[in-house]
Amino acid sequence: MEKILVTRRIPEKFKQRLELMGEVEMWDHHLTPMPREAFLEAAVDKTILLVTLSENIDRTLLEQAPHLKIIANMAVGYDNIDLVEAEQRNVVISNTPHVLSETTAELGFALMMAASRRLSEAIDYVQDGKWESWGPYLLAGKDIYRSKVGIYGMGEIGRAFARRLKGFNADILYHNRSRNTKAEHELGAFYTSFETLVRESDFIVCTAPSTQETRNKFNKDVFKMMRNDAIFVNIGRGDIVVEEDLVEALQSGEIAGCALDVVRDEPIRMDHPLLTLPNAIVTPHIGSATVLTRDQMIQTCVLNIEDVVQGKPARNQVLAK
Ligand code: DGY
Repeated sequence: MEKILVTRRIPEKFKQRLELMGEVEMWDHHLTPMPREAFLEAAVDKTILLVTLSENIDRTLLEQAPHLKIIANMAVGYDNIDLVEAEQRNVVISNTPHVLSETTAELGFALMMAASRRLSEAIDYVQDGKWESWGPYLLAGKDIYRSKVGIYGMGEIGRAFARRLKGFNADILYHNRSRNTKAEHELGAFYTSFETLVRESDFIVCTAPSTQETRNKFNKDVFKMMRNDAIFVNIGRGDIVVEEDLVEALQSGEIAGCALDVVRDEPIRMDHPLLTLPNAIVTPHIGSATVLTRDQMIQTCVLNIEDVVQGKPARNQVLAK
């Protein structure tokens, strides 16, 4: 009989599947994360956790919950988890790859289009009653068609993004830890150095995870290298960007705009300077947020948990490097 903790409200059908394996305690809230103290306390006797990105899985939690067999993370990213500490205690960690790649790429594309055509400014313009006449350069933006798009991070999401560019006749540059020959052959993407990608691209789209190598990668020096009409899109992780430097680049006109689905500290503070800039769009980390994909992410967590309960390796186990 397992003891399972689910740290956010999930649909009844998934809860019932978990109940076939044991006793389920669920934090019955959709938007409010479990307070840290309550989480630590609830985890003490559990053998299984199904968590979200909001939970910090660190040494304190792992020390306090000695019976854990698996922690299923409802995300493809796992920067909220100390993998080394988990591995030392033989706790399996699983994530939700594949099922969210197309959905996340789609949001990235929506952000790139919104920033290129200044959509949020245009909507505000109408709603604020400023629309008095047609003007030759009123809210004039930038074409994606025939532009150069630089993708930083050519994993599954990067490739799904590149595939969507085909109808736009765009040149696709990419930079990644390693060459992705599939993207090169299928999509005609060109591998370049990071510096070339940054200097030449009209649109720079970051899909990378948070790692030692990517953290703070987009900083003052990098924004300086970008074209003045460049637009920066981030659907990876917030800590890849030094936000003060991004704000400065947007204010000084070093770059033309940005669209971010992720920021360093989520949720963003309401007095964050990014929220005052007309050329910055921020959405609340909704890359994978379609009903179907969120269902599939929870389903993936359940499947990984079932694997471990049945004594099999979890199908989406992640390991410390
Ligand atoms: C992930 O899966 O890592 C996303 O950021 C959350 O959907």
